[in-house]
Amino acid sequence: MQPFDLVIRGGTVATATDSFKADVGIRGSTIAAIGDGLDKGKREIDARGNLVLPGGVDSHSHIEQLSASGLMNADTFESATTAAAFGGTTTVISFAAQHVGMSLKTVVDEYHQYAERGAVVDYAFHMILADPREEVLDKEVPPLVKAGHASLKVFMTYDRLKVDDEQLLNVLQAARDNRAMVCVHAENHGMISWMGKRLVKKGYEAPKFHAISHPRVCEPEAFTRLIACAALVDQPIMIFHVSTQEGTQVIRKARGEGLKIFAETCPQYLFMTKRDLDKPGLEGAKWMFSPPARDFHDQEALWQALALGDLQVISSDHAPYAYDKSGKLVAGKKSTFKQIPNGMPGLEARLPVVFDEMVSNGRFDVTKFVAWTATNPAKIYGLYPKKGTLAIGSDADIAIWDPKKSVTFSDKTVKDRAGYTPWKGRTVKGWPTIVLLRGEVLVADDKLKAKPGSGQFLARKAGAAAEPLGRATVEFDPKQNFGARLR
Ligand code: URP
Ligand code: ZN
Ligand code: ZN
Repeated sequence: MQPFDLVIRGGTVATATDSFKADVGIRGSTIAAIGDGLDKGKREIDARGNLVLPGGVDSHSHIEQLSASGLMNADTFESATTAAAFGGTTTVISFAAQHVGMSLKTVVDEYHQYAERGAVVDYAFHMILADPREEVLDKEVPPLVKAGHASLKVFMTYDRLKVDDEQLLNVLQAARDNRAMVCVHAENHGMISWMGKRLVKKGYEAPKFHAISHPRVCEPEAFTRLIACAALVDQPIMIFHVSTQEGTQVIRKARGEGLKIFAETCPQYLFMTKRDLDKPGLEGAKWMFSPPARDFHDQEALWQALALGDLQVISSDHAPYAYDKSGKLVAGKKSTFKQIPNGMPGLEARLPVVFDEMVSNGRFDVTKFVAWTATNPAKIYGLYPKKGTLAIGSDADIAIWDPKKSVTFSDKTVKDRAGYTPWKGRTVKGWPTIVLLRGEVLVADDKLKAKPGSGQFLARKAGAAAEPLGRATVEFDPKQNFGARLR
């Protein structure tokens, strides 16, 4: 038997189901053995006193992407994935973002080039459809899904990106026909637009009014409409960045009816509230993202929804804009909140802030941390078991966490190009001190060890999560619809 190339010795290994003391043996790029007293490897890492976890899978991150207002965000694939790596994330799913009039194929080709040039962790793309015209859905989507882009994303709000209900139904149908997951930013556009105009007209222009301009009800309203559309087509969906208690209730009811509805939230909704936007001048712009942070009772509702399984994923929704003219202040120092791009950086901080609360503070155990931040997104998006777990044959993507290491977030140490962290001043206990990607050291001694472009594209087939239920809705059942054959 070949010796192991690397043995991680004596740590506490955790998966989404178990945690136990074991050595992990790696040959080449994959895990070859997990057990007690493994033979000596060519190299060894002493993990005693540390947790040995799968590298994180961040399934919602905007990288090198044109924003809703046509502004390029702050990161390149190199800077964003470097930030991810330092925070223990070894796989990202970012977006290939079509805007109106663009060919989806051309867009996907461009994002491939950006990622090939810079990524230091492995990556896949959700394809954003802002212009789901017939030729795109019929001619471009099928070969792109076959090429491994097994998820589509649509926005129900943002002037330049939103789809109406009919377009949404077309996208859901295309996903069903080609077997892909559909991810949705679901908020009621009319309410947001109307509230925004009303606030600005009356002189309420500061960033904190962003939080008011997305009324709470725009979430459950859009979720209900979206779920009705998905049920009509019989297409599974993923609802992105759930922020309100009312939103979780809509999801719980739909899942209770057996519908295939998946949903995520993000650290900003678990730890921040609308009060974070209430800062002097335009400073609150750093905490402007959509949907906005809500209230303390929403945080509790989101944790409860995670515990009950109604939410399955904690992603970052990394969407970085620098606090200067290239980003948040693009419209100058007198901008209204409507002129400020939405989004905050999150790839680096996602795992540490969640680990701190779940594992160090004991809100949940480490298996749940692994499930919500790595295993579940890998399963839902067709990356499992290559990614998202520690198992024989899985990629040796491993984050070794020192549970005693305390870190205080500071603008000076951010690795992405936002230039600030919305977590500034927050101290967390627990940090991934050594991170491996496919058996190679990615981060150690506070240094990045990989070269830009070493990340690999992950072609994915949609897994069981994206399979339709096969329930006969009345309108699609020839026995009940006067014999019409619509499938
Ligand atoms: O505010 C955010 N989250 N911006 C990024 C785009 C989106 O809405 O997901
Ligand atoms: Zn969104
Ligand atoms: Zn997003």
